[in-house]
Amino acid sequence: MDQTWKPSLQKEGKPLYIALVRALSDDIEKGRLPRGFRLPTQRELADQLKIAVGTVTRAYDEAERKGLVYGDGRRGTFVGQLPTPKSFLASLAKPVTLGIDFRQNHPAHWLDPDLAAALQQIARQPDCQELLLYPPPSGLMAHRLAGTRWLESLGLKIDPENVFVSGGAQHALLVVCAAEAHAGDIIASEEYSFPGVKTVADMLGLQQAGVAMDEDGIIPEALEELCLRRDIRLLYLNPSLQNPTNYIMPLERRRQIAAIAEKHNVCVIEDEILSPLLDERPGFISGLIPDRSYFIISSSKSVAAGLRVGYITAPAQARQKLADVLQGSVLALPPLMAEIFSLWLDDGTVEKTIAARKRELAWGQTTACEILRGYQVRSQPTGYHLWLTLPDPWTGLEFTMEAQMRGVAVAPAEIFAVDRKAAVNAVRISIGAVPSREHLKTGLTIIADILSGSRRQDTVRV
Ligand SMILES: Cc1ncc(COP(=O)(O)O)c(C=O)c1O
Repeated sequence: MDQTWKPSLQKEGKPLYIALVRALSDDIEKGRLPRGFRLPTQRELADQLKIAVGTVTRAYDEAERKGLVYGDGRRGTFVGQLPTPKSFLASLAKPVTLGIDFRQNHPAHWLDPDLAAALQQIARQPDCQELLLYPPPSGLMAHRLAGTRWLESLGLKIDPENVFVSGGAQHALLVVCAAEAHAGDIIASEEYSFPGVKTVADMLGLQQAGVAMDEDGIIPEALEELCLRRDIRLLYLNPSLQNPTNYIMPLERRRQIAAIAEKHNVCVIEDEILSPLLDERPGFISGLIPDRSYFIISSSKSVAAGLRVGYITAPAQARQKLADVLQGSVLALPPLMAEIFSLWLDDGTVEKTIAARKRELAWGQTTACEILRGYQVRSQPTGYHLWLTLPDPWTGLEFTMEAQMRGVAVAPAEIFAVDRKAAVNAVRISIGAVPSREHLKTGLTIIADILSGSRRQDTVRV
């Protein structure tokens, strides 16, 4: 192969640096650039392509953030090599030997509601055949009204015309971003963020920016500074029981964030998927600035993940735009699923299921805090996960590899870090889906053992 890289740029209306990143990732994927290949210097590439050095710098930075390349000081920039969160996750795809999987934020399946009973009840409804008709892209009005009632019970009062049915929260995030942003726009989020944001940003060609956090969520001054420096289009937040760091943003902080969003013309996406599990909710940013925010929620964590029913609330002026994107994404969602969820909302199943999940999570959180006493753990009484800051000298990836070797799977901070270079030494431990309380205790005890022991000499270096 050539000794140097000669990218072919397909601009297609995208900013030049994004086209360069795309060319790089295509050439890696097609095997034209092997791992360890040394890329031209920024100056060489800029001269070759007759573009500004700053554009190449931006492209290399973005490629590094995506884990496509890495810089090795004066030696230059190289393809791949360091494991990316994606390749790392792929390596974890095989089941863990002890069956203790703390990687995924899944709800406990044994607490799911009785689907057969719901289907029988729906089958008895005289108009059930109508669920086979094409519904409107925004969802049937009966289902939007049910969603409106659910939101109101959580503390968000909203006009049902502004409530839309989605296929879960991930779908909600995708359609909101598609409605509000264009390739090259910036989506800011917590510096450790739900990885689904990255997936959407990559799909739509958005740039990501992380905002520094403290124990109450993103820091207003950090957001303000970012908004002054860069043109932020969207701000994604998951402010209740945040995935992965478990913070709950108090109302005062939400007010401050809302004020900054107003001032800098930023559209907020407030993902409140875990808030039904809270005993008390502090209030929502979307309630403070309804004309500048989208609220998203789904049945996945609190009721049943396979139902794929979510709700989006949109600013009144964005209704049509959102309906168009929903139509473009799936034409319309299967109304049977929203029918099941509406039934469960009305007959009290949602409330009962949430209560049962909260009891189980409370037991898990208390047990985890006992077993991990003395370590830096952020726990919440009914949270799905724990955020464990690791003692020196563990990195998140190394600790995860060690735990994996001992039969326990956790998720390293690197997977959530918007800027991988800034990842802290931490792991997320999701307690929602382990098969039994015994598995939970065994897994946490293994984690405590790893923390208390000296680092194994034979730990795989990554
Ligand atoms: C914070 C957050 N938002 C959204 C989602 C996606 O939810 P859904 O299953 O409804 O698509 C998840 C799933 O893990 C999540 O943790």
